[in-house]
This record gives sequence, C-alpha cells and structure tokens, in this order.
Amino acid sequence: MSSGPGAWDTEYHAPVLADEVLKLFEGARTILDCTLGGGGHSAALLAMGATVTAIDRDPAAVVTAMKRLASYAAAGRFRVILGNFSEVNTLLTDPAQRFDGIIADLGVSSHQLDDESRGFSFREGAMLDMRMGESEADAADLLNSADETELAEIFREYGDEPKARRLAREVVRRRENRPFITSDDFVGAIRAVLGSRSGSGDFARLFQSLRIAVNDELAGLSTALPRLRDRLEPNGVLAVISYHSGEDRITKHEMREWSRDCICPPRQLTCTCRGAALGELVTRKAVSATAEEIARNPRARSARLRAWRRGG
Ligand SMILES: C[S@@+](CC[C@H](N)C(=O)[O-])C[C@H]1O[C@@H](n2cnc3c(N)ncnc32)[C@H](O)[C@@H]1O
Repeated sequence: MSSGPGAWDTEYHAPVLADEVLKLFEGARTILDCTLGGGGHSAALLAMGATVTAIDRDPAAVVTAMKRLASYAAAGRFRVILGNFSEVNTLLTDPAQRFDGIIADLGVSSHQLDDESRGFSFREGAMLDMRMGESEADAADLLNSADETELAEIFREYGDEPKARRLAREVVRRRENRPFITSDDFVGAIRAVLGSRSGSGDFARLFQSLRIAVNDELAGLSTALPRLRDRLEPNGVLAVISYHSGEDRITKHEMREWSRDCICPPRQLTCTCRGAALGELVTRKAVSATAEEIARNPRARSARLRAWRRGG
C-alpha cells in the first residue's frame, strides 16, 4: 500500500531515471511535466516540494493521475491539462508562464502497454489500435490504407528494418484478402518476411514503428522542443528521456544547436545570427539507467536522458 501521494514506488510504476531527474531539478519550485503518464515523475517532484503542471494527451492518464494526486491538486500544487505537448502554447493560457524545470519522458506508459484494450502490445489477439490520444487513424487503419512506399518508410525509418520494403509489400498483399484487425495479423506478416526465427525483439521494434507513425511522435517532438525551451525560466532545465533512436537524435541535435554561439552557415564570413548561445548542455552524453535500475525496471533499458539549461 502507498503511504501517501508521494510514495510512487509501490502505487505507481517506477519512474525511469528518477534519481537523475530529481537531481537535475533540485531546488526547482515550478515544474512542467509534459508526459504525466502514471504520474510517477510528477509524484516524485511533488514530494520534493515543487508545484507541478502536467500534460498528457491520453484522457485515461489524466483521470487516473488526477485521482492519485488529488491531495496535491486540492492544495493548489498540482494541475493537469489534457492535450499534446507540441501545442504547449495553446494549452498554457498564460503566455508568460515559465518553469524552473520541464520534463518530457517520451513514448508509451506502462499503463498504456498493460491495458490490452488500448492495442499497444503484440500479445495474441490484441486489437491493433495504439492511439495515445486524439489522432484519428489507428494502427489497423494505417496497415489497411497506407500505400506500400509509406509503410516501407515507417518500417525503415522508425523500425530500422532492413527488409522494410518486403514487409510493406507483404502487408499490402495480405490486406487484399483480409484486413488487419489484431496483433496476430501483423505478427503473421512479420514472420512471413523475417522468417520463423524472428521473435519478440522484432515484434517490439516493428510495433513501435507503427505506434510512432500513428501518433506522429517524431514530428510532434521537433515542434515541441523549441516551444518548451522558451517556457523555461532563466537557468531553468529541460530534461528529455527518449526510448527510440529517432527521439534521441532530435533531442541531441536541438540541444546542441541551442548551445552554440553561432549558427550561421560555415562559409559565412560575418555572423548574422543571434551570436550567442541560448544556454548550455547539462549532459554532454546521454545518461542511461544503471544495471541496478534496469534489473528493477526493464523499461529503463532503452532510456536515454539529455538535459539542457537555459542561460541566466
Ligand atoms: C513514458 S510515459 C510517462 C510516464 C511518467 N513519466 C511516469 O513516471 O509515470 C509517456 C506518457 O506521455 C504521453 N505522451 C506521449 N507523447 C505525448 C505528447 N506529444 N503530448 C502529450 N502527452 C504525450 C503518453 O500518453 C504517456 O502517458
């Protein structure tokens, strides 16, 4: 049993890289948690004494976390907004609102994965849905309607799949006889192309590629990052936890770019850009979970944390 709203270790799925995140936000009074999920990071940050504004695009996450953290909400220290963090400037009605710390713990939550009706998993018989929020087409729609080139791009770009074109062709061939409805249909197509030795690692990777496409996750992240940066107080810290190489690449690129004094083209003789870095990298390299955390929480295995501090 939980001993209070801050006791996230039992009642909540353990938040990934929690010690590292708490250290980054030491002394922060106001936090924006862009990815509320099960409320793990929010709960830990509230327990640390911060006031937290949280966003999630998933209505189920919002309802559940609101119940769990109701005492903080009643005390005026916790507020939740339903929406996509890429729309942060619409979601936060006060254009001047800034935060000492902002966290985005990307991807899918354990709650979403565990709830079979949400269709995120490749467990036998699970529906192919994977929508986190308001996106219209679900995973089955995508498999049943995207053309071969689009599917191949999804499997290659988001799934690192060398046989992406063949898999796309197989999907198109199969759906001519029978539409894709459950996870078994997609697993069958993967097996037919990757062979009988393909297994859960391949399924996880290719299901993830579909999920990224269904929720337009990488484009959303690219749009969001500069907006989130501009919502930091001077000396405020932005922390991003990625679980996919594409997410980490975008985050790394943005944070490095903001940390450079000059962003003019290399051959340009006179600087015409902003001429000064907007802030500095807090993490030179992505931080991974320790072996001990991974043993406790296998989800942490692929987590990569990067942080950036806005100039004073
Ligand atoms: C990895 S979980 C967060 C877990 C959370 N930090 C915790 O400790 O419980 C990611 C959550 O972010 C949400 N999410 C993902 N992309 C989002 C976006 N673009 N806008 C808002 N919420 C998003 C998902 O719905 C999911 O609930």
